[in-house]
Amino acid sequence: MVRLLVDCDPGHDDAVALVVASHFGELVGITTVGGNAPLADVTTNALLTCQLFGIDVDVHVGAERPLVAPPRHAPEVHGVSGFEGPALPPLARAAASTEAVEYLIETIRSEEGLWLVPIGPLTNVALAFRQAPDLPSRLAGVSFMGGSAGAGNHTAVGEFNMLVDPEAGSVVLGSGARLHMAGLDLTRQFVIDDALAADVRAIGGPGPVAIADLMVSYLDQLERLGGPRLGGLHDPCAVLAVTHPEVVASQARHVSVELTGSITRGMTVVDRRSARTSEPNVFHGHTLDHPMARSLVLEALAAASGRSDGRSDPGDGVVR
Ligand code: RIB
Ligand code: CA
Repeated sequence: MVRLLVDCDPGHDDAVALVVASHFGELVGITTVGGNAPLADVTTNALLTCQLFGIDVDVHVGAERPLVAPPRHAPEVHGVSGFEGPALPPLARAAASTEAVEYLIETIRSEEGLWLVPIGPLTNVALAFRQAPDLPSRLAGVSFMGGSAGAGNHTAVGEFNMLVDPEAGSVVLGSGARLHMAGLDLTRQFVIDDALAADVRAIGGPGPVAIADLMVSYLDQLERLGGPRLGGLHDPCAVLAVTHPEVVASQARHVSVELTGSITRGMTVVDRRSARTSEPNVFHGHTLDHPMARSLVLEALAAASGRSDGRSDPGDGVVR
């Protein structure tokens, strides 16, 4: 079973990714990074996810802001707290430390062959790699959700995680680690729609009901922003690329990130030309087995649904 460290900024898709990682892998530790919401909020959301799904793993708090850019959040998508939508239980967990970068360095140095799965801005990972250049070679790999070989989401070409901290993205892309990229061109193949939210809600239990409420809130927001009720379940794709490699087809490509473009900053450039002019540095995930991925996510949510250590919520939104 693969052993994983997940660096996250919950958001609903991060929460699902944590459940998938804890079910199909050995989730060794969790670190949080400012992203979808401010650091304190995403840390609360990570702790609540562990509480709702009975995930007994330490959470370590990381970087509040990117390496260079000012902090940037996504309240228009995930709400101010990052977990807009459900009635949530009172927080009954606490972070293990506020030293996520030191935790990553110590843990990766103590055990060869871990997978690092960043599913938020890459700030913590870049700081760890800069402080400890031996880390990339000690990891089995880094499977990150970020970037895109096509359209962006928060700008025409910028995907949120890479857009928030492109300097960190550049450090990771140049680190020499084995890199697996789950960009928007892959993760949009994992559709979030009302049918998925209904299937999650049908699992029952406080955890799945909260995830279903988060998904519906996300779809409502997309509709308010003028789009269809269709989104991507982005972050679990980066986990499944490690726990179930057969679910993601990938190709070795050269990938870089734009740092100076006034319009294109944060854009990832995936070189898909047949005649390679740049040495590949990333396994670019290009095709998802969506039916299999969807089935695996529902399996993981169902398996964890009975493990909540929050107060019960029979699904009527009233937390007792
Ligand atoms: O662009 C999608 C990414 O940004 C996902 O990781 C989502 O959680 C947000 O962090
Ligand atoms: Ca995320």
